[in-house]
Amino acid sequence: MPRLRFNLAALFALAAVLMTAACAHQAPESATPLYDPQTLPSGPLGASIKLGHDIIMNPQKYVPNDVVADMSCGACHIAGGTIKRGGTLVGVYARFPQWNKRSKRVITVQDRIAECFLYSMNGKPPAYTSKEMNAMVAYIAYLSRKVPVGAKEDPTQRFIVKTPSAPPDLARGGALYAQKCSLCHQANGGGVHGAFPPLWGPKSFNNGAGMSHLAMMTGFVKYNMPKNAPGTLSLQEAYDISGWVLSHARPKFQKGRMIVQPAMPAKFF
Ligand code: HEC
Ligand code: HEC
Repeated sequence: MPRLRFNLAALFALAAVLMTAACAHQAPESATPLYDPQTLPSGPLGASIKLGHDIIMNPQKYVPNDVVADMSCGACHIAGGTIKRGGTLVGVYARFPQWNKRSKRVITVQDRIAECFLYSMNGKPPAYTSKEMNAMVAYIAYLSRKVPVGAKEDPTQRFIVKTPSAPPDLARGGALYAQKCSLCHQANGGGVHGAFPPLWGPKSFNNGAGMSHLAMMTGFVKYNMPKNAPGTLSLQEAYDISGWVLSHARPKFQKGRMIVQPAMPAKFF
């Protein structure tokens, strides 16, 4: 009965398609990666988005003069900012321009990128007209595609937590650090160049960085560390360890230094 066989085959094929569709609906993130270099828009825009991704994963290669900290943006924006509670950059483009408490002015997404260069990377921002700055903006905009401008942020995307009211227990934090963190970040907090970012010392983020706030680091550590077993620390453990990490010396933010953005000829625009 060739006809029935054909119909059964068609039925199985249809079932397979429906099941794939159902799975795609349940888990859109795994079905369509947020960033895949194979599916970028073609031409110069796609190339710019890819460059933005590559800079964020390895700024030392692309903007060596602008970074001092020995880590990538991806050290805190895990997997290029594609992970929930891992420093996600998804939807960020849709929330700018925005009011900035620190600088007391309305800032653009370039200003926000500049902030992480100045504090988290302890460096200086690339010129706002540079191909590198444009590439990072293009990448963040690409990650934010389909998020309407002005859309309210889902608070469960952020890693910041409410910390316990008592101060952290630094002795307990130090003991836990030796057990659960020093394997990668080293006993002296200096990390391993190119593999594990430094948590304190001259090559780490400076004292103005978001990560230098106890509530930020506690949340980051609770949701993302230790890298080989994320989610295994209690809030109190993450808090004690972060308190201990932040009790060490790190670079000071140089408030008064001048940031030079080069002049451009009119024809650039
Ligand atoms: C030491 C950790 C660290 C490094 C390194 C770092 N950042 Fe960040 N970044 C943060 C933290 C913390 C925040 C604030 C997150 C929050 O508010 O929930 C942030 C926020 C941002 C935001 C705004 C996100 C939002 O939700 O509004 C952008 C854009 C950004 N970073 C870009 C970069 C870029 C580009 C680099 C590399 C040049 C970089 N960051 C390096 C820690 C870091
Ligand atoms: C198996 C190796 C490994 C272990 C163990 C580990 N980390 Fe990390 N950590 C990493 C890597 C790699 C990154 C960069 C982000 C990424 O790739 O996920 C990172 C990033 C970080 C960052 C942000 C970047 C920076 O340098 O400030 C902090 C903070 C951090 N880890 C804290 C900890 C703490 C605290 C522990 C112990 C509870 C810990 N880590 C255990 C590998 C590790």
